[in-house]
Amino acid sequence: MDSPGRNVFILSSGFLAVIGSCSGKKRTEEGIQVKETQPIEAIAAGNNLESYEEAYQNFSFKDVEKEFSWYETGKVNAAYEAIDRHAESERGDHIALHYSDSDREEKYTFRQMKEQSNRFGNVLRKIGVGKGDRVFIFMPRTPELYFSFLGTLKVGAIVGPLFEAFMEGAVRDRLEDSEAVALVTTPQLLSRVPVKELPALKHVILVGAEGEQEEGFYSFEKEMDQVSPELDIEWVDREDSMIIHYTSGSTGKPKGVVHVHNAMIHHYQTGRWVLDLKEDDVYWCTADPGWVTGTSYGIFAPWLNGVTNVIRGGRFSPEDWYGTLEKYGVTVWYSAPTAFRMLMGAGADIVKQFDLSKVRHMLSVGEPLNPEVIRWGMETYGKRIHDNWWMTETGGILISNYPCMKMKPGSMGRPFPGIQAAIIDDEGNELPPLRMGNLAIRTPWPSMMRKIWKNESKYKEYFRIPGWYISGDSAYMDEDGYFWFQGRIDDVINTSGERVGPFEVESKLVEHQAVAEAGVIGKPDPVRGEIIKAFIALRKGYEASDELKEEIRRFVKEGLAGHAAPREIEFKDKLPKTRSGKIMRRVLKAWELDLPTGDLSTMDD
Ligand code: WTA
Repeated sequence: MDSPGRNVFILSSGFLAVIGSCSGKKRTEEGIQVKETQPIEAIAAGNNLESYEEAYQNFSFKDVEKEFSWYETGKVNAAYEAIDRHAESERGDHIALHYSDSDREEKYTFRQMKEQSNRFGNVLRKIGVGKGDRVFIFMPRTPELYFSFLGTLKVGAIVGPLFEAFMEGAVRDRLEDSEAVALVTTPQLLSRVPVKELPALKHVILVGAEGEQEEGFYSFEKEMDQVSPELDIEWVDREDSMIIHYTSGSTGKPKGVVHVHNAMIHHYQTGRWVLDLKEDDVYWCTADPGWVTGTSYGIFAPWLNGVTNVIRGGRFSPEDWYGTLEKYGVTVWYSAPTAFRMLMGAGADIVKQFDLSKVRHMLSVGEPLNPEVIRWGMETYGKRIHDNWWMTETGGILISNYPCMKMKPGSMGRPFPGIQAAIIDDEGNELPPLRMGNLAIRTPWPSMMRKIWKNESKYKEYFRIPGWYISGDSAYMDEDGYFWFQGRIDDVINTSGERVGPFEVESKLVEHQAVAEAGVIGKPDPVRGEIIKAFIALRKGYEASDELKEEIRRFVKEGLAGHAAPREIEFKDKLPKTRSGKIMRRVLKAWELDLPTGDLSTMDD
């Protein structure tokens, strides 16, 4: 089974798995080869989390609850804690929101955010929308989106944010499944909402609409003007539903992941210890609220911590992003690997044109963060980019690199205090370090999803092993307790009976100077079961050629492992990606096999 130059380990399912021999890897007794990246030292003291080990031993989420007013009553409202609590304190005049896009530039204090969200809550009350009703928001990132979001929560309704790039089919699926009763949108986006086919949808509130509206349609501005800025908040139970995020699984239509108000405990505390938010921070999370990062960490975590939140409308460009960091003096910046890779592709020269000296903490989530990107970030920004891991279903960060912690580039980090993460086999046995298996989390934790909307069986699948949440990701833990992502369970490639994590191959590929992005799939092969096929987008200035294919192949073969080198390479102008930046291998696979691509509603255009 084992042979020199390659290393073998067995998964619980009995499959033979091989992680290739490669430089910088150490062979272990278990057979797995562990990546040994050069650790990057911790940032000097002054972080909210001073000692990871101590916090991990002593921390309990129960202690956090005592910091909130509802600890005594048990009645809570996350929007109150995020906004009103600060509005009523000496931070009332502190900037809560800096908004800008190419046409608008506005700022709002916590007091003003309170008034605006109160008004929206009153608008909903007036039309009879309240506790437990689903209110969806299909809007570009503008201040009105945030007022509506918070106002919805304040009346105890469940908010459903929809990404503005969704087309009709995606919008219909979500509004239909959730039986949304109200929708906030714009006249432009309304053309993608099949209102007549949605019997539950009674109210459409239009932002920026002109003239009189027909029945059931309202002008956001007019309604907001007519109601009071005072509101009696609906105090709800901590376990009452707060938000629905639709997310794609490996099968079927997107499913509605439901989180409850209690999740705020998790958002608040990870905001303190992972984002390292402090009173005077100016924070920018680049994610859209249509995705979970854009709500848990684009709304709740910063505002629960009373911090100034930057929202930038419009699309990505390196100049625009660096300009935003400079203009607002952003101190904490949370983004995604694809964005960092694109910035890396744009080069270091452009960075020099901006003053990024205020940035003190950088973070990344959503997909594997290549060590190469971290190294580039160190060279270019002089900062570590802190990878962390979580999912729509987990509601908040569960594994992370903390400022106080030594970082191993390529690792997602260690479990958040209060969280027990493990690698388990399919029967629920915990595996020792350096064995690959299911990344699982001990249940429950404050931001754990509480249901899949109208789909109990889907929900139960995640918890099929008693006491554990099964993430669907495969990973291993090293001897120091750091977790290393290997791939989605269902994306792992099996070639000649050898399992290869596509991330490892992709990571290697993007280290090649010509490669901007890479997606790797298993392509069925009559002899080998599957062969590895790589789809590659080249960096500017590189021409596709057979020589270049061969060179890249050799680069992987020599840098990672022979069996991990793609037998086939295809160049593409762009790779299909989700809005949260994950390369959609599923779509690559469908292209390759000439199959239908399935639901593309989460794909970047
Ligand atoms: C992947 C985004 C590697 C993983 C917050 C997970 C990651 C899925 C990381 C969830 C990371 C997230 N390293 N992979 N640091 N973070 N993922 O629901 O496969 O959009 O299951 O949530 O993204 O994606 P989702």
